[in-house]
Amino acid sequence: MADGAGGSGSGAARPRVFVARVIPEDGLRPVLEACEARVWEDELPPPREELLRAIEGCAGVLTLLTDKVDDEFLDRAGPGLRVVSNYAVGFDNVDVAACTRRGVAVGNTPGVLTDTTADLAWALLMAAARRIPEGDRYVRGGRWKTWGPMLLLGPDVHGATIGIVGFGRIGQAVARRAAGFGMRILYHDLHRHDAAVEAEFAATFLPLEELLAQADFVSLHVNLTPETRHLMNAERLGWMKRDAVLVNTSRGPVVDPKALYEALRDGTIFAAALDVTDPEPIPADDPLLGLDNCLVVPHIASASRATRGRMASMAAANLIAGVRGERLPTPVNPEVYGRG
Ligand code: DGY
Repeated sequence: MADGAGGSGSGAARPRVFVARVIPEDGLRPVLEACEARVWEDELPPPREELLRAIEGCAGVLTLLTDKVDDEFLDRAGPGLRVVSNYAVGFDNVDVAACTRRGVAVGNTPGVLTDTTADLAWALLMAAARRIPEGDRYVRGGRWKTWGPMLLLGPDVHGATIGIVGFGRIGQAVARRAAGFGMRILYHDLHRHDAAVEAEFAATFLPLEELLAQADFVSLHVNLTPETRHLMNAERLGWMKRDAVLVNTSRGPVVDPKALYEALRDGTIFAAALDVTDPEPIPADDPLLGLDNCLVVPHIASASRATRGRMASMAAANLIAGVRGERLPTPVNPEVYGRG
C-alpha cells in the first residue's frame, strides 16, 4: 500500500482518504493532490481486516464494487467519515441507508459508462448468437476440416425480437443498437415509460412473462435489489423460447446460476452470455464453464480506457467534494443533504 505524499508540500492538514485500488491517473492525480491519500496497490482487493484498518479515521474512502460498505465499515471509519465514493454506477455493495443515517454521502459514476456497457452487451449478444467463442475453440482445436452446411448454426440477430429488462440509460443504449439491426424492441421495467420514450426507441412495454415468451434475445439491465435477486429463476427461464439467448451485464445474482446451468444443459434456452456471475469471480470448475453454450467474460462491460478514465475523474470529484463538505456531483443519497 502506498502513501500518496501529494504535491503541495505545505504543512496544512489535508483530509485523509483511502483509495481501495489503483484507478486511472485522471482520478488518482487529483485525489493525491487534494488529499492525504493511501492507495491500495495490489491487483486483488484489500482483505476485509486490512480494509477496515486502512479506513480508520478517514474523511473519505474511494471504494470498488468488491468492497462491502456496511455498519461495521462505518463504525471502523469513525465519525469523521464524510463520503464513500464508489468507482461504479452500481452500488449494491454499499448499505446506502446506513450511510445516510450517519450523514455519510455516497457517490457513484452514472452516465459515463452507458455506451461502453451497451457495446459489450451487444458484443456478447452477437458472440453468443453466432457462436464466436465456440468457433474459435473449434479452429484452434484443429477440428476445422471443411466448410459444413450444418456447422455452428445459430439464430439471426438482424430482424429478431429483443426483450430488454430494465429500460434505464443502459437498456435504452442497447435498444439504440438493436434498432440498427432492424430488431423489434420489447422492454420491461418497474414502470411503463412515457410515450415519448417509447416512441424514441420504438419500444413496446410488456409484462415480464410476455416479454420472455416473445423475445429471441433477452438482455438484463436492472439494479441488484432484493426484488431482482434471482429475477431469472427456473420458472422465468422456462418462459423463454428454446432458441433464445440470455445476456447479463447487470449483476450476477440477478440470475439463479443453478437454474441457468440446468436451462442451458437441457436446451431450455439456446445460449447465455454473461459479463457478471454469482459468485464473482466464477470458480474455474463451475459447471457453467463446462457448457459450450455459455460465454463468460470477467465483468469488463465498462472496461474501455476512455470510460475507466472518466469513471476515475468522476469518482475523484465525488471524493474530493465530499471531504470538503461540499455536495457531491453525483450523489446516490441526496437525502443526506436534507438533514437539519
Ligand atoms: C458498474 O459500474 O456498476 C459496473 O458494473 C462496473 O463498471
